[in-house]
Amino acid sequence: MPDNRERAVDFLETRRDGNIELLREFLALPSVSTETEHRGDIDRTAYWLKERLIALGASDAAVYPTAGMPVVCGTIEAAGNKSVTLLVYGHYDVQPVDPLDLWESDPFSGKISGDHLFARGASDMKGQIIAVLAAIEAAQQNGGLPINIRFLLEGEEEIGSPNLKEFIRTHGDLLRADCCLNPDAGMIAPDRPSICYALRGLAYFELRVQGPAMDLHSGIFGGAVHNPAQVLCDLLSGMHDTAGRVTLPGFYDDVAGLGAEERSELARLGMDDRYFLQQTGVPALWGEEGYTALERTGARPTLEINGLLSGFTGTGSKTVLPAEAMAKISMRLVPNQDPKEMRSKLERYIEARVPKTVTWQLDQFAAGPPVFSERTSKENRAFAKALETVWGVPPIFKREGGSIPVATYLSELLGMPSVLTGFGLPEDHIHSPNERLHLPTWHRGTKAVAHFFYNLS
Ligand code: BES
Ligand code: MN
Repeated sequence: MPDNRERAVDFLETRRDGNIELLREFLALPSVSTETEHRGDIDRTAYWLKERLIALGASDAAVYPTAGMPVVCGTIEAAGNKSVTLLVYGHYDVQPVDPLDLWESDPFSGKISGDHLFARGASDMKGQIIAVLAAIEAAQQNGGLPINIRFLLEGEEEIGSPNLKEFIRTHGDLLRADCCLNPDAGMIAPDRPSICYALRGLAYFELRVQGPAMDLHSGIFGGAVHNPAQVLCDLLSGMHDTAGRVTLPGFYDDVAGLGAEERSELARLGMDDRYFLQQTGVPALWGEEGYTALERTGARPTLEINGLLSGFTGTGSKTVLPAEAMAKISMRLVPNQDPKEMRSKLERYIEARVPKTVTWQLDQFAAGPPVFSERTSKENRAFAKALETVWGVPPIFKREGGSIPVATYLSELLGMPSVLTGFGLPEDHIHSPNERLHLPTWHRGTKAVAHFFYNLS
């Protein structure tokens, strides 16, 4: 006779379509955290999640207001032995959809085509949240949940989780658990499940350079007035040297080096230059000399221009000398860089280079610390075993270049380790038009999560 575990996994097979429909309902809620016009949608999404948790038996499920977007928490108790508690982290907010005209279907319609479900948030990370809810239901319907499960679902990860540290500090009792499952970190390829042991941190800025009091005629004043767009471009172009290194004073000061052993492990993952060329479609790769593309994106700090705005950008021409120029600039950080210290490094760089012909202003947005976790922790081993059971191959341990601030907060404030994983793929177009979820991989993921529960118990 099959045991509970096997029955739960079989149950997930029969519930596949129903779970996809539940995910499509979640995806229809446009919970874009950075756009104020979606504030109501954020609240609706939080309450929708609360209802899902209540339906799974979390009688204490509640929506907690913060200074920003609300957090949803709740506890679902184990059926028998209640000695193990897992905290599940998720973010229910999504990135903006723009540029909308590049989407081939409505970003909130959840169109299914072949093996893919297309929607903003499908992979990052509403699909990952539903995978966990599906696994819980499967266990409950087949002998009972083997562990207690708590939830920490936030609505502002995509803008840097600005209020989450404070929430965790003041709500530790709601979150108390043995470890956290964080399925926001993705995997490498459909046949290569993975667990992530390092994530980069983030420091995000907006730099504004101001010149004349108003836009000027470029014929009347060009040559007498320094163009702020020119000044901004000069500043930005000096931020990297010809070896691809960041030139801000002290930028590399606290960077933990990469050991020979880890370098050879990373090299064995097979994510070589050809892989990066194929994933991105660029004619050639670029970056810091002396490191492979995988090392540069996972283990080295970088600086990117995320947006640029100045002057006339409409169709046709307009001879204008703009009053202002703006750039969005972010840095990805590695251990032991401190996001709070990066601002003064950027300020020192600007102060040393900016001409007297303009004024400038620097604002800081998201700041998230880098994450580093123990590969052989008990919970990582339990998850690795679950992945191996479903995929038939042991998972790969990898670093990721993206950022998820919560993991460091849980470890610093509650001493709680996280399993950083997920069932999103590099080719899912997260943060881009036509974001998608590979349904066969996701479906396997629901089963791996169920196995994880039994492995932990
Ligand atoms: N899920 C991503 C982070 C991620 C992507 C981790 C791929 C591993 C692999 C997350 O939602 C995200 O995009 N985070 C932002 C965070 C930032 C605003 C602090 C990021 O990395 O840009
Ligand atoms: Mn995410």
